[in-house]
Amino acid sequence: MKFHVLTLFPEMIENAVHTSITGRAAKKGTISLDTVNIRDFSVNKHMRVDDYPYGGGAGMVMEPEPVYRAWESVAGGQGNEEKKPRCIYLTPQGKVLNQTLVEELAMEEELILLCGHYEGIDERVLEEVVTDYVSIGDYVLTGGELAACVLIDAVSRFVPGVLSNEESSQFESIQDNLLEYPHYTRPEVWRDRQVPEVLLKGDHKKIQAWRMKQSLERTRQRRPDLLEKNRPVTAAFFSPTGGTRKAAEIFTESLTQNPRYIDLTRRKLRKEKVKFSSGELLIAAAPVYGGQLPVTEESLFSNLQGESTPCVILAAYGNRHYDDTLAQMKKRLEKRGFICIGAAALVIPHIYSPVLGKDRPDEKDRQILRRFAVEIKKRLEEGIQEGFSSVSVPGNPDPEPKQMKPVEKSFDKEKCTNCQACAQKCPVNAISQETLEIREGKCLNCMSCVKVCKAGARGYDCSQVRQYLESNYSQPRKIELF
Ligand SMILES: Cc1cc2nc3c(=O)[nH]c(=O)nc-3n(C[C@H](O)[C@H](O)[C@H](O)COP(=O)(O)O)c2cc1C
Ligand code: SF4
Ligand code: SF4
Repeated sequence: MKFHVLTLFPEMIENAVHTSITGRAAKKGTISLDTVNIRDFSVNKHMRVDDYPYGGGAGMVMEPEPVYRAWESVAGGQGNEEKKPRCIYLTPQGKVLNQTLVEELAMEEELILLCGHYEGIDERVLEEVVTDYVSIGDYVLTGGELAACVLIDAVSRFVPGVLSNEESSQFESIQDNLLEYPHYTRPEVWRDRQVPEVLLKGDHKKIQAWRMKQSLERTRQRRPDLLEKNRPVTAAFFSPTGGTRKAAEIFTESLTQNPRYIDLTRRKLRKEKVKFSSGELLIAAAPVYGGQLPVTEESLFSNLQGESTPCVILAAYGNRHYDDTLAQMKKRLEKRGFICIGAAALVIPHIYSPVLGKDRPDEKDRQILRRFAVEIKKRLEEGIQEGFSSVSVPGNPDPEPKQMKPVEKSFDKEKCTNCQACAQKCPVNAISQETLEIREGKCLNCMSCVKVCKAGARGYDCSQVRQYLESNYSQPRKIELF
């Protein structure tokens, strides 16, 4: 991450950023700081950069030309066709910096920060160069430098490699709109004050529960306004062979550190009714079968009931196409009280081919999903103020059910240990517990039974469909976001 700071006081920025953690990161090259002294671009022989305001009034105003030239020295000026870095003007008139904006800015490769002084900067140059107006709080500073340092510090924490443990930036105050739990270190007793018992016993589940309770309590007491914005996130997924589940987890864990999961692959959980309030978020994820949602007895997601609850739908597919799946999911969930504020079609390994979707989601996909999670956080914040809007997705919401040719399956009774794993895990109860035979009429051809059979008693032959898929759909497809 490269920070360019346009300022009249470069040493103020240099001193702050080259200290402590950001200093270490700058030394390592994980972040870089380039301060540009606006005065060096003065068009006046006395090196002045300010003048009296038109219309009168107190104070001086920074002239447009030196600011423009300083910006041009970094951004390349007009006519440069390359994408210009975002240019942030630090001002109390801007959007108040919060964690979502910090995360969004951390995804940029370069940022230009513009620091004003005196009464401000001539409006015309701001209109020309500024992309974002950002405030660090409702108070006035003598200049933008300290605000720029605050922004650099907060953004740097999200740049991979800046913090010694990359994860630590994910688990701290303000994520999920909760304040962090209290911390303790040695000694165990300090001036008659004892460290809470639970932290000394090493039971991680109990420690986690205690910390969550403390976080909630603390937020309720100190920042009730944040608690109102805290939005529990639940991911409900159907995933017989685990590909959809993995993709849903990657996305959900970019959104929250306290996710709840509902595994709709389990027949029992598809029957349990779950209600969601408008203050929650649902992530609904399903694999694509023949361009549609898999057909289950109790149709997928029919046990979930929203109350104008925002939701994000994910269709995971094996690199052929998702066709009508997103449209079907959206219609089904919106009928059940959800508002579809985002959707993604993403590639996962195809169970019928070791080539299609191999190793997806890969690092590039993960990055795209992380960015999408930040976009969803923004939509949620905006939705609280303006109401949620439903996104458009391609496809037919009511496609004709597709007849798919069953895949040939084999069962070697000799190898079978009768462990029952296949019958228990079959998402549609298509395997008889007595005979272990597959009832073809019920079978989804999901291949979960082959995957879970440790004894190698089950196999399948999909060579024909595999050949067809690999000769027509081997070009890797990109994630599509809505
Ligand atoms: C019966 C069946 C039909 C499928 N149809 C499609 C399809 O139309 N398009 C596609 O890209 N992938 C298709 N796939 C691949 C799945 O979407 C996905 O890659 C994977 O096999 C299932 O996800 P899971 O690991 O979460 O169970 C199909 C898979 C199965 C089992
Ligand atoms: S019997 Fe059919 S539906 Fe059941 S796990 Fe096996 S392939 Fe999937
Ligand atoms: S999982 Fe394999 S070993 Fe276990 S019952 Fe099924 S076929 Fe037999």
